[in-house]
Amino acid sequence: MSIEQAYNSWADIYDTNQNKTRDLDAHATVETLSKYDFKNVLELGAGTGKNTPFLLSKAEQVVSLDFSEEMLNKAKAKIKDERVSFRRTDLNEEWDVEDNFADLVTVSLCLEHIENLDQIFAKAHQKLKENGFFFISELHPFKQYLGTKARYETEEGVKELEVYIHHLSEFVNAAKNNGFTLKEVEEWFDGEAENEVPRILSLVFQK
Ligand SMILES: C[S@@+](CC[C@H](N)C(=O)[O-])C[C@H]1O[C@@H](n2cnc3c(N)ncnc32)[C@H](O)[C@@H]1O
Repeated sequence: MSIEQAYNSWADIYDTNQNKTRDLDAHATVETLSKYDFKNVLELGAGTGKNTPFLLSKAEQVVSLDFSEEMLNKAKAKIKDERVSFRRTDLNEEWDVEDNFADLVTVSLCLEHIENLDQIFAKAHQKLKENGFFFISELHPFKQYLGTKARYETEEGVKELEVYIHHLSEFVNAAKNNGFTLKEVEEWFDGEAENEVPRILSLVFQK
């Protein structure tokens, strides 16, 4: 099953099934981005719009891209706000967003499905204004090394999605090669489990 088809079938339960990674990402996103000011946001892999209301609480305008029609349908049904535009887009292709649009590009739990990070950083750079920020929050590569993948339960059993492992060095080098500087790096743990493997890696880069 393609990644797009998998998210189309996951969409119905994405917001409600038990998912520690989804919930910790929401926390990491709010904690990190509360410190920044932004007017125009470009959200990549927005899914059901879990993080979109928070972005709208600080922004004037949000453009949210995703290639799963069903995930976007969930987002559109929940979020009725004329300041957000949901656009069906494959992130591996051209993004239908004007250059220099955003003060913030943000992506959560999506880059594990993208093989070539370099083209994502190149396009994020193109869509950002000068000094704009690029926030990334992903399943920590340490978790990936131990075999954790995006997955959901169906009546036929657990479905695991196709993923690519991206080392920390890949994020940092793709950023450097595309004109970004690293502003923040954080690792997020389950509850008090700071001696265990971190679940989420978050990075803030600046153009
Ligand atoms: C785990 S969900 C995360 C959704 C949301 N960002 C969140 O944190 O809840 C991953 C999302 O990435 C989207 N996605 C994966 N690969 C994509 C691609 N090549 N182009 C656009 N969207 C993609 C999926 O459709 C899905 O909605």
